Amino acid sequence: MSRAAASNHDEIAIAVSGIIKTFGGFRAVDDVSFTVPRGKVFGLLGANGAGKSTLIRMLCGILQPTAGSASVAGLSVATHPDEIKQRIGYMSQLFSLYRDLTVRENIRLFAGIYGLFGRVERERAVWALAVAGLEGRETTIAEDLSGGYRQRLALACALLHEPVVLFLDEPTSGVDPVARRSFWDLIDSLAAAGTTVLVTTHYLDEAEYCNELAMMHAGRIIATGTPRAVKELARDLPGRDGERAAGKLFEKTIPTMEDVFVALTERADQGNHAEQGNHAEQGNHAERERPVEGGRP
Ligand SMILES: Nc1ncnc2c1ncn2[C@@H]1O[C@H](COP(=O)(O)OP(=O)(O)OP(=O)(O)O)[C@@H](O)[C@H]1O
Ligand SMILES: [Mg+2]
Repeated sequence: MSRAAASNHDEIAIAVSGIIKTFGGFRAVDDVSFTVPRGKVFGLLGANGAGKSTLIRMLCGILQPTAGSASVAGLSVATHPDEIKQRIGYMSQLFSLYRDLTVRENIRLFAGIYGLFGRVERERAVWALAVAGLEGRETTIAEDLSGGYRQRLALACALLHEPVVLFLDEPTSGVDPVARRSFWDLIDSLAAAGTTVLVTTHYLDEAEYCNELAMMHAGRIIATGTPRAVKELARDLPGRDGERAAGKLFEKTIPTMEDVFVALTERADQGNHAEQGNHAEQGNHAERERPVEGGRP
């Protein structure tokens, strides 16, 4: 990661300001703002349909924002979506590998997409096999790999061109706890080398691995800060059954991020009652996103 390592760690790698994405009359992402300094791991947490993938697609230059602005690696998503794709790695939630191709063929394919050929391609392929822990299994069909190895290979493929910013949309979904831990070790070492990582997850224990978090609910960010600061926000809120108050949990034991998430989303729901008109229109899927060639940025 020499390119990334050379950059200034105080630099802002991702800056999002008042970004909105509307599908028909429905706001999937509703006035979201945050910044991520270079070399940090930023976690995006939220329930199904919260707007996480839509936000990531806008930041990858795949989906045009309806309003607001965002810059990634110093480039505006509105004016430079194609240049952004050269500087980022993207592991999408639904599609990350060609499952009917071998390990080697997947690496070669993604190297080609990123314009890597000859000696550079060969060097990066060796690196990718080592990162994925798949040396000696080059001819295995991706479909036949275990979930954990498939995700590591997908991550390695997204890193072939040494991106400075990495977007991972539920990279550990369906991966066992041991493989998840080693996946996070890998993310950690990438960040230590200067790569900025924005990652979504449904495993709330993984939030603890992030430098900073944003909890998303119904298109909006309802809490943001370090994992510790986000937990503090829930200190005085009641839990789902009233008795399991997050505050009480703080007295007895350390609350899990799941307790905090439930308490904060319930508070957001109470506050949102008056404005539910917008999100009641979730059925309207009139506007579709721009198709992406090969399913990748
Ligand atoms: N292309 C689209 N057209 C219309 N509606 C869409 C489109 N993409 C997403 N949506 C809607 O926007 C909302 C947010 O979806 P999104 O996929 O961003 O959520 P998410 O937080 O990634 O959820 P999950 O955790 O299930 O992956 C959902 O209601 C979804 O149905
Ligand atoms: Mg998603």
